[in-house]
Formats: sequence, structure tokens, C-alpha cells
Amino acid sequence: MMKATAVANANIALVKYWGKRDKKLILPQNSNISMTCDGMTTTTTVEFSDKYKEHSVVINDEEFQKDEKDIHGHIDRISRLAGIKDKARVVSESNFPVAAGLASSASGFAALTVAAAAAAGLKLSPKDLSILTRQGSGSACRSIFGGFVEWHRGKMPDGLDSYAESIVDKNYWPEFRMIATIVQKGKKPVTSRAGMAQTVETCPYYEGWLGTVTDDLKMIKEGIKERDFKKVAQAAEHNCLKMHALMMTTKPAIIYWIPATIEIIQNVLAWREEGVKCYFTIDAGPNVKILCLEKDEKEINKRLLKLEGVIETMICRPGDGAKLIDKHLF
Ligand code: PMV
Repeated sequence: MMKATAVANANIALVKYWGKRDKKLILPQNSNISMTCDGMTTTTTVEFSDKYKEHSVVINDEEFQKDEKDIHGHIDRISRLAGIKDKARVVSESNFPVAAGLASSASGFAALTVAAAAAAGLKLSPKDLSILTRQGSGSACRSIFGGFVEWHRGKMPDGLDSYAESIVDKNYWPEFRMIATIVQKGKKPVTSRAGMAQTVETCPYYEGWLGTVTDDLKMIKEGIKERDFKKVAQAAEHNCLKMHALMMTTKPAIIYWIPATIEIIQNVLAWREEGVKCYFTIDAGPNVKILCLEKDEKEINKRLLKLEGVIETMICRPGDGAKLIDKHLF
């Protein structure tokens, strides 16, 4: 088989990855945890053939513009592993905004890796697919798995112990919700790759972050296993605010928030005072993800859509890991 198609869901971190211990292999400074989000999906078809003179990549109907996340380099990594010389044609479609702090690279690189590995004839375990995906884009290695997922920091210099692993699958806690609340659709001003490198180099609080992450990991893992919403959501919100505090105190400052981001934060805090059970998390961008349970989802979504700065929302439950499908995009 020289052609294969995969679908992968995005994931949103509850304990964030923000900083690398090895930039080339993409090894994180700390272990981190995410939920794979049902319905925030990328579908990617990869074909290797001698009829192609070079790799071509089309994402959402546009020819891919080379950036620091080296898609061509990732395809080469996979074809090298498989020992094939053919070039690849890649067509990819996502159903949510790309590069706006909505984890598009996570679903994108997970789908690309699974499709390209299959098209190249590689038979890899989910763990090995996760290690391979990680080398293209760090957080993407979590999207190989569904439900709640931990990406282990690992200790080895070659990164073979730095992979994602399922904590519980998507059916363990089907009532958990993330409402992706979109306030801006454009590309973010500073990529996560550049932003986290700058943070590790210049933020005076980075050691403080690393010193508290272990507690956050423990709390959130326990909370997931106990299905204790408050335990998970409270720790996730705190972890997100610590990450943004790092971003804001690098040199120069990186501030991803826009007024609508703060509008949502303030409202979530006020709604909580009223007894509505909701928390927030935010990645490297202005968009906010609200954490809640199924029973409160409608009320919270209604309130979000009334806010001035909110463009749209997407309600996600725990979703599946990356998988191959039969229907190709070309
Ligand atoms: O893997 P990247 O380069 O897309 O970085 C992800 C960074 C955050 O989304 C902010 C945190 C995370 O763990 O997903």
C-alpha cells in the first residue's frame, strides 16, 4: 500500500508542555496531560509514488507554506525509516481554525504520521507512532491516543522513553466537556515553538514552573481516575495561568490574550461565583477552552455565545485516538 488516509483529533492540554529539553528530538522539560477532543478533526491522505518529483502538501485547499514545523522533513523522516525513495503527495483537511492556539498541529501531525507510516508500509505500535509523531510536533504525540493521555518527559537522551500513553480511554469519563471558544481565527503572532524556546531562555520563573508541575500532574491524574471534575478543572486552570505567567514574563513579553480572552476569563470566574461549574484553559493563542460537565454544557454554551467577543464555540467530549480510514481525499 503506497496510499493511506488517517483521521486524528486535536488535543487540549490540562497540564501544559511549554519548553523543550532537546529541541531537535522534541523532548519536553516536563511530562504533560491532555484530553483528545472529539470532533476537532484532521483528515490526511498520503501517497508515495515515483510519479512525484518532490513532496507536495496541500492543507485546507492551500499549498503549504514552509514554516518552522518542517512537514517535508517529517515525511523524509518516515520514508527514511521505511527505506523508500519516492516522494509524497499529502492532502489534509481540518474542520477548525489552523494555528490559532487550537492545537491544529496536534491533529495535523498525528494524522500525517499515521497515514504516511501506513502508506510507506511501516507497521508501528501506537507507542512507536507516538515517538515518531513527537519528532514532527511535540503535543501531536498525544493525539495518537484517545480519551485522557499523558506524554512522558522521559530521561533518555535519544527520546525513546518520551512518548504518550493512555490514562483512560474516551468511554471512562464521557461526561467531561471542553467548549473551544473562538475569539480570533487568524494566525498567532508568536509560534509555540519560538515562544517556548524564548521562555526557557529568558523567563526568571521557569524553575518555579518546573517545581510545581509534578503536583499538577499527580492531582490531575488522580482526578481523572476518580472522575472528580473540580479536582481536574481547578488544577488545569491554575496550570494554564502559570504557563501564561511564564509567557508574559519572558523577554520580550509574549501576550497571547486579547480583550475577548479576558472577557471570557472574568465571566467564567463570575459564573462560578453563581454556582455554575466551569473552569478555563488557554493555549498559545487568544482562544479559550471552557471545562465543564455534560449537564452544564448547554447553559454555559448559551452564556458564552452571548459575550461580545465570542465568534463561535465547538463542544468537545473525549474523543478517539488517530486511526486509518478507507476513504481517501484524492
Ligand atoms: O506542540 P506544540 O509546538 O504545538 O506546542 C504546544 C503548546 C501548548 O499548546 C501551549 C501546550 C500543550 O501542551 O499543548
